[in-house]
Amino acid sequence: MKNQNRRDFLKTAGVLTAVSCLPINLVELAFADSRKNFTFAYISDSHIQQIEGSKFVRNWDRGLIRAVAETNLLDPKPDFVVFGGDLAQLGKKSELDHGAEMLAKLNYKTYCVMGEHDYYLDLGEYWSKLYGDHYYSFNHKGVHFIVLNSILTYDDWTYNRWPTAEQRMNEMAGLDNPNGSPFMVGEKQRQWLSKDLEKVSKDTPIVVFSHSPIQKIFKGWNFWTDDAEEVQALLQPFDDVTVIYGHVHQIQYNQIGNISFNAVMATAWPWPYPRSYAQNKDFVPKLTVPMNRANPFHERDATGWQLIDLDSGRVALRYNLYDNTNRTVAYNPLTGRPEDKDFQDKAKRIPSQEHY
Ligand SMILES: [Fe+2]
Ligand SMILES: [Fe+2]
Repeated sequence: MKNQNRRDFLKTAGVLTAVSCLPINLVELAFADSRKNFTFAYISDSHIQQIEGSKFVRNWDRGLIRAVAETNLLDPKPDFVVFGGDLAQLGKKSELDHGAEMLAKLNYKTYCVMGEHDYYLDLGEYWSKLYGDHYYSFNHKGVHFIVLNSILTYDDWTYNRWPTAEQRMNEMAGLDNPNGSPFMVGEKQRQWLSKDLEKVSKDTPIVVFSHSPIQKIFKGWNFWTDDAEEVQALLQPFDDVTVIYGHVHQIQYNQIGNISFNAVMATAWPWPYPRSYAQNKDFVPKLTVPMNRANPFHERDATGWQLIDLDSGRVALRYNLYDNTNRTVAYNPLTGRPEDKDFQDKAKRIPSQEHY
Protein backbone atom coordinates (compact mmCIF):
# COMPACT_ATOMS: atom_id res chain seq x y z
CA MET A 1 0.00 0.00 0.00
CA LYS A 2 2.75 2.37 0.94
CA ASN A 3 4.71 1.68 -2.25
CA GLN A 4 1.62 2.06 -4.40
CA ASN A 5 0.95 5.46 -2.87
CA ARG A 6 4.47 6.51 -3.45
CA ARG A 7 4.38 5.48 -7.10
CA ASP A 8 1.15 7.39 -7.61
CA PHE A 9 2.71 10.42 -6.05
CA LEU A 10 5.86 10.24 -8.12
CA LYS A 11 3.86 10.32 -11.34
CA THR A 12 2.91 13.89 -10.53
CA ALA A 13 6.13 14.99 -8.89
CA GLY A 14 8.88 13.58 -11.04
CA VAL A 15 11.45 16.23 -10.20
CA LEU A 16 11.16 15.37 -6.54
CA THR A 17 11.85 11.66 -6.71
CA ALA A 18 15.03 12.08 -4.70
CA VAL A 19 13.04 13.23 -1.67
CA SER A 20 10.03 10.96 -1.83
CA CYS A 21 10.34 9.46 1.64
CA LEU A 22 11.77 12.13 3.82
CA PRO A 23 10.45 14.19 6.68
CA ILE A 24 10.60 17.63 5.14
CA ASN A 25 8.05 20.02 3.77
CA LEU A 26 8.61 21.75 0.45
CA VAL A 27 6.59 24.88 -0.12
CA GLU A 28 5.98 26.09 -3.64
CA LEU A 29 4.75 29.56 -4.36
CA ALA A 30 3.22 29.62 -7.83
CA PHE A 31 2.48 32.89 -9.58
CA ALA A 32 0.66 33.66 -12.81
CA ASP A 33 4.02 34.82 -14.13
CA SER A 34 5.96 31.57 -13.80
CA ARG A 35 9.28 33.42 -13.77
CA LYS A 36 8.39 34.49 -10.22
CA ASN A 37 7.76 30.95 -8.94
CA PHE A 38 9.98 29.71 -6.19
CA THR A 39 10.07 27.07 -3.51
CA PHE A 40 11.20 26.87 0.05
CA ALA A 41 11.57 23.89 2.33
CA TYR A 42 10.10 23.55 5.81
CA ILE A 43 11.43 21.39 8.64
CA SER A 44 9.81 21.47 12.07
CA ASP A 45 9.55 20.04 15.58
CA SER A 46 12.70 17.96 15.91
CA HIS A 47 12.70 17.92 19.75
CA ILE A 48 16.37 17.04 20.11
CA GLN A 49 16.55 15.49 23.58
CA GLN A 50 19.60 14.84 25.71
CA ILE A 51 19.65 11.63 27.74
CA GLU A 52 23.01 12.29 29.41
CA GLY A 53 26.40 13.59 28.29
CA SER A 54 26.73 13.07 24.55
CA LYS A 55 23.77 10.64 24.45
CA PHE A 56 20.66 11.98 22.73
CA VAL A 57 17.38 10.29 21.78
CA ARG A 58 18.36 8.56 18.57
CA ASN A 59 15.00 8.65 16.75
CA TRP A 60 14.65 12.39 17.07
CA ASP A 61 18.24 12.89 15.90
CA ARG A 62 17.62 10.67 12.89
CA GLY A 63 14.49 12.58 11.88
CA LEU A 64 16.38 15.87 11.68
CA ILE A 65 19.48 14.37 10.06
CA ARG A 66 17.30 12.84 7.32
CA ALA A 67 15.40 16.06 6.73
CA VAL A 68 18.60 18.09 6.40
CA ALA A 69 20.19 15.54 4.06
CA GLU A 70 17.10 15.42 1.83
CA THR A 71 16.75 19.18 1.74
CA ASN A 72 20.31 19.44 0.48
CA LEU A 73 19.43 17.01 -2.34
CA LEU A 74 16.33 18.89 -3.51
CA ASP A 75 16.07 19.63 -7.21
CA PRO A 76 15.06 22.31 -7.93
CA LYS A 77 16.85 23.84 -4.99
CA PRO A 78 14.69 25.74 -2.52
CA ASP A 79 15.45 29.45 -2.15
CA PHE A 80 15.66 29.05 1.63
CA VAL A 81 14.67 26.79 4.51
CA VAL A 82 12.44 27.51 7.50
CA PHE A 83 12.82 25.64 10.75
CA GLY A 84 9.45 25.81 12.51
CA GLY A 85 10.43 25.60 16.21
CA ASP A 86 10.90 23.01 18.97
CA LEU A 87 14.47 22.33 17.94
CA ALA A 88 15.17 21.24 21.54
CA GLN A 89 13.05 19.23 23.96
CA LEU A 90 13.88 20.99 27.25
CA GLY A 91 15.58 24.16 26.03
CA LYS A 92 19.05 23.11 27.19
CA LYS A 93 22.18 24.60 25.66
CA SER A 94 23.39 21.06 24.93
CA GLU A 95 20.18 20.25 23.03
CA LEU A 96 20.11 23.53 21.10
CA ASP A 97 23.80 23.17 20.22
CA HIS A 98 23.32 19.59 19.03
CA GLY A 99 20.29 20.58 16.93
CA ALA A 100 22.05 23.68 15.57
CA GLU A 101 25.01 21.56 14.54
CA MET A 102 22.68 19.40 12.42
CA LEU A 103 20.82 22.40 10.97
CA ALA A 104 24.14 24.06 10.10
CA LYS A 105 24.69 21.34 7.52
CA LEU A 106 21.91 22.86 5.39
CA ASN A 107 23.29 24.39 2.20
CA TYR A 108 20.69 27.18 2.28
CA LYS A 109 19.89 30.27 4.25
CA THR A 110 17.74 29.13 7.18
CA TYR A 111 15.08 31.12 9.02
CA CYS A 112 14.16 29.90 12.50
CA VAL A 113 10.91 30.12 14.47
CA MET A 114 10.81 29.96 18.28
CA GLY A 115 9.08 26.94 19.88
CA GLU A 116 8.03 26.65 23.52
CA HIS A 117 10.51 23.81 24.03
CA ASP A 118 13.29 26.17 22.94
CA TYR A 119 12.13 29.06 25.10
CA TYR A 120 10.96 28.33 28.64
CA LEU A 121 14.26 27.36 30.25
CA ASP A 122 16.10 30.66 29.74
CA LEU A 123 13.35 32.64 27.94
CA GLY A 124 15.08 32.38 24.59
CA GLU A 125 18.45 33.79 25.65
CA TYR A 126 20.65 31.04 24.23
CA TRP A 127 18.42 30.56 21.17
CA SER A 128 19.00 34.27 20.39
CA LYS A 129 22.76 33.72 20.38
CA LEU A 130 22.24 31.06 17.71
CA TYR A 131 19.45 32.56 15.63
CA GLY A 132 18.99 36.23 16.52
CA ASP A 133 15.64 37.99 16.84
CA HIS A 134 12.56 36.16 18.12
CA TYR A 135 10.33 37.90 15.56
CA TYR A 136 11.11 39.64 12.28
CA SER A 137 10.03 39.99 8.68
CA PHE A 138 11.66 39.85 5.27
CA ASN A 139 10.70 40.18 1.61
CA HIS A 140 11.48 37.61 -1.03
CA LYS A 141 10.51 37.78 -4.70
CA GLY A 142 7.39 39.84 -4.09
CA VAL A 143 6.17 37.98 -0.99
CA HIS A 144 6.24 39.49 2.51
CA PHE A 145 7.28 36.87 5.08
CA ILE A 146 6.66 37.37 8.80
CA VAL A 147 8.13 35.26 11.60
CA LEU A 148 6.27 35.52 14.92
CA ASN A 149 7.13 34.27 18.39
CA SER A 150 3.65 32.97 19.23
CA ILE A 151 4.54 30.92 22.33
CA LEU A 152 4.74 33.73 24.90
CA THR A 153 2.33 33.72 27.82
CA TYR A 154 1.18 35.81 30.79
CA ASP A 155 3.97 37.52 32.75
CA ASP A 156 2.71 36.16 36.05
CA TRP A 157 3.06 32.58 34.82
CA THR A 158 6.46 33.26 33.24
CA TYR A 159 8.11 35.25 36.02
CA ASN A 160 6.36 34.51 39.31
CA ARG A 161 4.80 31.06 39.29
CA TRP A 162 7.74 28.65 39.39
CA PRO A 163 10.65 28.30 41.84
CA THR A 164 13.12 27.25 39.14
CA ALA A 165 13.60 27.73 35.40
CA GLU A 166 13.75 23.94 35.00
CA GLN A 167 10.31 23.52 36.56
CA ARG A 168 8.89 26.27 34.34
CA MET A 169 10.29 24.48 31.29
CA ASN A 170 8.88 21.11 32.40
CA GLU A 171 5.44 22.54 33.11
CA MET A 172 5.22 24.07 29.62
CA ALA A 173 6.65 20.98 27.92
CA GLY A 174 3.73 18.69 28.85
CA LEU A 175 1.07 18.24 26.16
CA ASP A 176 -1.93 18.07 28.49
CA ASN A 177 -0.53 19.57 31.70
CA PRO A 178 -3.15 21.75 33.45
CA ASN A 179 -0.27 23.74 35.02
CA GLY A 180 0.66 25.10 31.57
CA SER A 181 -0.53 28.45 30.27
CA PRO A 182 -2.09 29.52 26.95
CA PHE A 183 0.30 30.78 24.29
CA MET A 184 0.06 34.30 22.91
CA VAL A 185 1.82 36.71 20.59
CA GLY A 186 1.42 39.55 23.09
CA GLU A 187 0.74 43.25 22.82
CA LYS A 188 4.32 44.39 22.17
CA GLN A 189 4.70 42.06 19.20
CA ARG A 190 1.23 42.88 17.87
CA GLN A 191 2.22 46.55 17.85
CA TRP A 192 5.36 45.65 15.93
CA LEU A 193 3.31 43.59 13.47
CA SER A 194 0.86 46.42 12.93
CA LYS A 195 3.75 48.79 12.14
CA ASP A 196 5.46 46.20 9.93
CA LEU A 197 2.28 45.76 7.86
CA GLU A 198 1.87 49.53 7.34
CA LYS A 199 4.44 49.44 4.57
CA VAL A 200 2.94 46.39 2.79
CA SER A 201 0.43 46.90 -0.02
CA LYS A 202 -2.88 45.07 0.33
CA ASP A 203 -2.27 42.91 -2.73
CA THR A 204 1.17 41.67 -1.64
CA PRO A 205 1.03 37.96 -0.72
CA ILE A 206 1.80 37.49 2.98
CA VAL A 207 3.11 34.29 4.53
CA VAL A 208 3.28 34.14 8.34
CA PHE A 209 5.36 31.54 10.18
CA SER A 210 4.36 30.86 13.77
CA HIS A 211 4.97 27.92 16.07
CA SER A 212 1.55 27.63 17.70
CA PRO A 213 -1.47 28.02 15.41
CA ILE A 214 -2.72 31.63 15.21
CA GLN A 215 -6.20 30.21 15.83
CA LYS A 216 -7.95 28.44 18.70
CA ILE A 217 -8.10 24.70 18.16
CA PHE A 218 -7.88 22.81 21.46
CA LYS A 219 -6.99 24.57 24.70
CA GLY A 220 -6.46 21.37 26.68
CA TRP A 221 -3.39 20.56 24.61
CA ASN A 222 -2.37 24.17 24.01
CA PHE A 223 -3.13 23.90 20.28
CA TRP A 224 -4.12 27.47 20.92
CA THR A 225 -3.06 31.13 20.73
CA ASP A 226 -4.92 33.30 23.23
CA ASP A 227 -4.78 36.54 21.22
CA ALA A 228 -5.38 34.80 17.87
CA GLU A 229 -8.33 37.03 16.95
CA GLU A 230 -6.29 40.20 17.49
CA VAL A 231 -3.48 38.92 15.26
CA GLN A 232 -5.98 37.75 12.63
CA ALA A 233 -7.59 41.22 12.64
CA LEU A 234 -4.23 42.75 11.66
CA LEU A 235 -3.92 40.29 8.75
CA GLN A 236 -7.52 40.34 7.46
CA PRO A 237 -7.21 43.53 5.34
CA PHE A 238 -4.74 41.80 3.02
CA ASP A 239 -5.92 39.87 -0.05
CA ASP A 240 -3.79 36.79 0.31
CA VAL A 241 -2.54 35.57 3.69
CA THR A 242 -1.27 32.14 4.65
CA VAL A 243 -0.25 31.11 8.16
CA ILE A 244 2.03 28.07 8.34
CA TYR A 245 2.65 26.59 11.78
CA GLY A 246 4.26 23.63 13.52
CA HIS A 247 3.69 22.55 17.14
CA VAL A 248 0.66 20.31 16.50
CA HIS A 249 2.61 17.49 14.79
CA GLN A 250 -0.36 16.60 12.57
CA ILE A 251 -2.35 17.61 9.50
CA GLN A 252 -4.60 20.58 10.17
CA TYR A 253 -6.18 23.13 7.86
CA ASN A 254 -8.65 25.92 8.23
CA GLN A 255 -9.88 29.09 6.59
CA ILE A 256 -10.84 32.20 8.55
CA GLY A 257 -11.82 35.11 6.30
CA ASN A 258 -8.90 35.79 3.95
CA ILE A 259 -6.47 33.72 6.00
CA SER A 260 -5.60 30.13 5.15
CA PHE A 261 -4.08 28.07 7.95
CA ASN A 262 -1.93 25.02 7.38
CA ALA A 263 0.10 22.92 9.79
CA VAL A 264 3.33 21.15 8.89
CA MET A 265 4.34 17.82 10.30
CA ALA A 266 7.13 17.06 12.73
CA THR A 267 10.34 15.13 12.15
CA ALA A 268 10.16 13.74 15.71
CA TRP A 269 6.75 12.13 16.31
CA PRO A 270 3.05 12.62 15.50
CA TRP A 271 0.37 13.68 17.97
CA PRO A 272 -2.96 11.88 17.75
CA TYR A 273 -6.04 13.99 17.03
CA PRO A 274 -7.74 15.07 20.27
CA ARG A 275 -11.11 13.36 20.69
CA SER A 276 -12.67 16.72 21.38
CA TYR A 277 -12.30 17.64 17.67
CA ALA A 278 -15.15 15.27 16.91
CA GLN A 279 -17.14 16.07 20.04
CA ASN A 280 -17.30 19.78 19.41
CA LYS A 281 -19.82 20.87 16.80
CA ASP A 282 -17.63 23.80 15.71
CA PHE A 283 -14.36 21.96 15.82
CA VAL A 284 -11.38 23.25 13.97
CA PRO A 285 -10.23 22.13 11.51
CA LYS A 286 -13.33 21.12 9.59
CA LEU A 287 -12.94 17.39 9.40
CA THR A 288 -14.99 16.35 6.39
CA VAL A 289 -13.84 12.76 6.86
CA PRO A 290 -11.89 10.94 9.56
CA MET A 291 -8.22 11.86 9.03
CA ASN A 292 -5.35 9.47 9.31
CA ARG A 293 -5.00 8.61 12.94
CA ALA A 294 -1.52 8.62 14.35
CA ASN A 295 -0.57 5.47 16.20
CA PRO A 296 1.21 6.58 19.38
CA PHE A 297 3.01 3.24 19.55
CA HIS A 298 4.59 3.80 16.15
CA GLU A 299 6.95 6.74 16.37
CA ARG A 300 6.98 7.30 12.59
CA ASP A 301 3.25 7.05 11.88
CA ALA A 302 2.01 10.28 10.30
CA THR A 303 5.39 11.94 10.27
CA GLY A 304 6.47 12.96 6.79
CA TRP A 305 6.61 15.90 4.46
CA GLN A 306 4.39 17.82 2.13
CA LEU A 307 4.30 19.93 -0.99
CA ILE A 308 2.41 23.19 -0.71
CA ASP A 309 1.23 25.00 -3.82
CA LEU A 310 0.12 28.56 -3.31
CA ASP A 311 -1.76 29.29 -6.50
CA SER A 312 -3.97 32.35 -6.95
CA GLY A 313 -3.89 32.90 -3.21
CA ARG A 314 -5.23 29.45 -2.33
CA VAL A 315 -3.11 26.78 -0.72
CA ALA A 316 -3.11 23.10 -1.61
CA LEU A 317 -1.07 20.68 0.45
CA ARG A 318 0.08 17.28 -0.72
CA TYR A 319 1.03 15.35 2.37
CA ASN A 320 3.45 12.49 1.81
CA LEU A 321 3.10 10.28 4.87
CA TYR A 322 5.59 7.51 4.42
CA ASP A 323 4.01 5.21 6.99
CA ASN A 324 0.41 6.20 6.37
CA THR A 325 -1.91 6.98 3.46
CA ASN A 326 -0.94 10.04 1.43
CA ARG A 327 -3.49 12.85 1.47
CA THR A 328 -4.17 16.06 -0.41
CA VAL A 329 -5.93 18.99 1.19
CA ALA A 330 -7.03 21.79 -1.14
CA TYR A 331 -9.31 24.80 -1.02
CA ASN A 332 -12.79 23.99 -2.31
CA PRO A 333 -14.39 27.17 -3.74
CA LEU A 334 -17.82 25.55 -3.55
CA THR A 335 -17.70 25.36 0.22
CA GLY A 336 -15.19 28.14 0.88
CA ARG A 337 -12.80 26.09 2.96
CA PRO A 338 -9.93 23.64 2.59
CA GLU A 339 -11.03 20.02 2.31
CA ASP A 340 -9.56 16.62 1.76
CA LYS A 341 -9.61 16.19 -2.03
CA ASP A 342 -10.47 12.49 -2.01
CA PHE A 343 -13.79 13.29 -0.40
CA GLN A 344 -14.90 16.24 -2.44
CA ASP A 345 -17.63 15.53 -4.97
CA LYS A 346 -15.64 14.83 -8.15
CA ALA A 347 -18.55 15.94 -10.37
CA LYS A 348 -18.47 19.42 -8.84
CA ARG A 349 -14.71 19.92 -8.97
CA ILE A 350 -13.47 22.86 -10.94
CA PRO A 351 -11.06 21.88 -13.74
CA SER A 352 -8.11 23.82 -12.30
CA GLN A 353 -8.07 21.53 -9.28
CA GLU A 354 -7.94 18.31 -11.24
CA HIS A 355 -4.17 18.08 -11.19
CA TYR A 356 -3.99 17.76 -7.43
FE1 LIG B 1 6.64 20.19 18.94
FE1 LIG C 1 5.60 23.20 20.37
